[in-house]
Amino acid sequence: MRIILLGPPGAGKGTQASRLTAKYGVPSISTGDLFRARVKDPNDPLGQQIKAILDAGTLVPDEITVKMISERIDHDDCKNGFILDGFPRSVSQAEALEKMLKEKNLKLDGVVQIGVDEEKLVERIAGRFSCSGCGEGYHDKFKQPAHANTCDKCHKTGTFVRRADDNEKTVRERMHIYHTQTEPILPYYTERGMLKTVDGMADMDHVTAAIESALEPKNGGAAANSPKKFG
Ligand code: AP5
Ligand code: MG
Ligand code: ZN
Repeated sequence: MRIILLGPPGAGKGTQASRLTAKYGVPSISTGDLFRARVKDPNDPLGQQIKAILDAGTLVPDEITVKMISERIDHDDCKNGFILDGFPRSVSQAEALEKMLKEKNLKLDGVVQIGVDEEKLVERIAGRFSCSGCGEGYHDKFKQPAHANTCDKCHKTGTFVRRADDNEKTVRERMHIYHTQTEPILPYYTERGMLKTVDGMADMDHVTAAIESALEPKNGGAAANSPKKFG
């Protein structure tokens, strides 16, 4: 299963990608997570260049991003597929992905847009935190750990962190970049008959079920899962 999850900041791409990995037995690949991992090393000059871009909320150049994805999907764990979270993010990246997959003799199974009401995204992003031990994501209101300050997944205590780019100024820029650079890939995939849209404002379990249903071959069209228009 090779799929792309699309949606603005806070739509739930990461949340759904980690749920779908279990169902499909393929890894989720988040360009944001890959970049944040590089930023952690203060002696990595590329990491520090990327940090400035992440802090601004703009896009990391294609030559870095596309190469990173190409290398990542060559790993053994991707032999049965992958879930792309945060890539592609522009028409040029979508074109690069198409070319790359063709060269690797691989085919995409679907592109799912997680549709959301933008006013609600600020609340989602402002309340988000994650475990620095295992990466599990949480939310102050929508997904609290069962025991305060302890990760449900890896059971470590005191490991919760918030993202540096989850401040109001950067979030506003990330939204702007989404509208200007990423949204144009929606018609790109519609033209190829690949785009399916799910209601990302439903609770997390319902969103997961809607994505799974949209990816069923019998639901081969976007319309089956497009109750309303988002964006
Ligand atoms: P990235 O890390 O991809 O950030 P993003 O696109 O802004 O998306 P987020 O991670 O903020 O949101 P999400 O959709 O994953 O939501 P989540 O599941 O966490 O990218 C960061 C930066 O890296 C970019 O700004 C750019 O600089 C760079 N970058 C990345 N990819 C790039 C590329 N391809 N090219 C160039 N540069 C690139 O959910 C949010 C919160 O809501 C969570 O707390 C969650 O618990 C909660 N939640 C989720 N679903 C629901 C629900 N249904 N109901 C209630 N709460 C929910
Ligand atoms: Mg994410
Ligand atoms: Zn953890």
